Amino acid sequence: MSDYKVHFDLNVLPAEDIFEPPAPLLAGAHVRGLPNYYELYKESINNPDRFWKTVASQLYFETDSDRGLEYNFDHRKGDVFIRFMSGARSNIAYNCLERNIAKGLGSKVALKWEGNEPADSSQVTYQELLDKVVAFSAVLRSKGVRKGDTVAIYLPMIIELPVAMLACARIGTIHTVVFAGFSSDSLATRILQAKAKVLVTADGCFRGNKPIHLKMLADQAVGICLNEGHRMDSVIVLEHLKRVTVPAKAKVPEVLINKDLDVFWDQAVDSVRGVESPVEWNEAEDPLFILYTSGSTGAPKGIVHTTIGYMVYTYLTTKLSFDAQPDDIYWCTADCGWITGHSYVTYGPLLNGMTVVIHEGVPTYPDPSRMWEMVEKYKVTKLYTAPTAVRALMAFSKDLVTKHDRSSLKIIGTVGEPINPSAWKWLYHVVGEDKCAVVDTYWQTETGGHVIVPLPGATPTKPGAATLPFLGVEPALVDHRGAALEGPGEGNLCMARAWPGMMRTVYGDHSRFVKTFFSSFPGYYFTGDGARRDDDSYYWITGRVDDLMNVSGHLLSTAEIESALVLHPDVVEAAVVAAPHDIKGQFPYAFVSLVNGKSLTDTLIAQLKATVREKIGALAMPDIIQEAPGLPKTRSGKITRRILRKIAEGDKGADLGDTTTLIDQSVIVQLWSTRPAVK
Ligand code: WTA
Repeated sequence: MSDYKVHFDLNVLPAEDIFEPPAPLLAGAHVRGLPNYYELYKESINNPDRFWKTVASQLYFETDSDRGLEYNFDHRKGDVFIRFMSGARSNIAYNCLERNIAKGLGSKVALKWEGNEPADSSQVTYQELLDKVVAFSAVLRSKGVRKGDTVAIYLPMIIELPVAMLACARIGTIHTVVFAGFSSDSLATRILQAKAKVLVTADGCFRGNKPIHLKMLADQAVGICLNEGHRMDSVIVLEHLKRVTVPAKAKVPEVLINKDLDVFWDQAVDSVRGVESPVEWNEAEDPLFILYTSGSTGAPKGIVHTTIGYMVYTYLTTKLSFDAQPDDIYWCTADCGWITGHSYVTYGPLLNGMTVVIHEGVPTYPDPSRMWEMVEKYKVTKLYTAPTAVRALMAFSKDLVTKHDRSSLKIIGTVGEPINPSAWKWLYHVVGEDKCAVVDTYWQTETGGHVIVPLPGATPTKPGAATLPFLGVEPALVDHRGAALEGPGEGNLCMARAWPGMMRTVYGDHSRFVKTFFSSFPGYYFTGDGARRDDDSYYWITGRVDDLMNVSGHLLSTAEIESALVLHPDVVEAAVVAAPHDIKGQFPYAFVSLVNGKSLTDTLIAQLKATVREKIGALAMPDIIQEAPGLPKTRSGKITRRILRKIAEGDKGADLGDTTTLIDQSVIVQLWSTRPAVK
């Protein structure tokens, strides 16, 4: 096994652009100083099995195993697979709850929930959370749910969301959480693909002033599924609206009840009172959850994570990236509908026995000081958020931040997209008052946990760099011929070896898994991102190199938006590209060719946006739709997106590269002349 070389002379940036770990963190940090990181890193690469065994020994296993990481990344040598601790049996919910309670954390607060309205809040201790999880797992069992079945969860960010996830995990049931901002069509697709027979949802909720008709959307989704011949056994409905404050001016969503399928959460829990619901000891590679993420072609991919590798990896990454300590109040602003809410709201922090704050609302409601108000109110020590939220809040006066006490803060993490140095520095100077570590965590739904990340007590940071690999992770920058670069340079970001927490397959489509992630550069896992490595071996993520775009930290597929647009009878063809946006990072910019005689009226634009919202969700709605009588295409019929991207960017002076392969070069002139003014 290679001895991975890392150079540690931080000599690239001017001294003022390197931020040493803050002194107060150093004293008690789990990993202290760069040499300590390097030592651990070397061990994790040179003796991975010994290294991961030591980590695993901090968790509970019903049955242990001598096996470590086993994998094949090279499809030319056989099937691609990843396994960790084969033969072992454990349970991640047990490790989050009973194991911590046995260590004396029963009366420690596990979750603190704050609602959409600041007046609404509640909390549960580890013992209370366990009681809720056991009861809800009994409800699921009473509905016929068994180990290996799939349950779909479509809930707002409330305590019952982690409860439902943990209840599934307790009984070996695979959960698939669907973000409550997704449309009924998206929900239906996921229920069908994941073959879920039980859906857990709520009557509704509010996002800021906006009512979200969750039950109505869930009903529509169930209707679609039934029409497709899918069997639904039950829909468990949480009555959430009755316990929240209704925002001024908002209307309460109406709720219809379907007597054949629907059961109320509270009544179902009452009916199983006293029923025992023992822990299922799951095999290492039993699936824990499926989480759908955009694919660069066609339908979303159901990323599958399994039990033990994911558990060990989210445990360690949370412990080290956020330097988890017993007195932490940890707040991750992500929703459990995304991987961040799986790994770093639910599993990682609870495995570490942390007190976790969750927020149902948005950071700008009722006003843009909400985030700092909550930091003060809960005395948050570790805050984990997204660059898009930071950019949105930076636009307001500094006073909104500084009027709130943030002295509790120690670490501020970001995730979702590359963080621009000015947002990084704003977090460091304005929010953290030069006293906090800012950790830019690079990872993906597929990686399960952080893969490139500074450790707050060890890694000097550079604004905009995700810095160094996590323990056990070996990144490689690979050129278009598949050769790994040595030393500094830029290339396709790949991983040269497996780590316990990475995905195992795409649900129901293993060949898509192999094709998407392992065929571009045989022998490597390909992330789909580009990256640069500097003279200090620090990684700087440059963004997606495939047809995915990153809007407010959420990946969207251009192909999926195009498919939604062409559903409209007036649209012949559509091409969607990413255009830069100050706050969202990127936004979808759509070019549409219309059927003869039709023109792009405001009504048609509104209809097209509505179609995208209905098929995918509001996040995917193009901000700009431009009529394109013709699209630039090569002679083989391929749309040249790089040209459309330049038009969307409004970069008229840009070098369009070689345009001689286009069938009709005049379309470029025409698209420039009809480009709508961008606000
Ligand atoms: C992007 C989110 C730069 C990247 C956890 C990746 C980032 C995709 C960062 C995964 C970061 C995430 N710096 N880019 N710190 N974090 N990304 O699956 O393009 O929703 O491939 O997982 O987000 O998005 P996903």
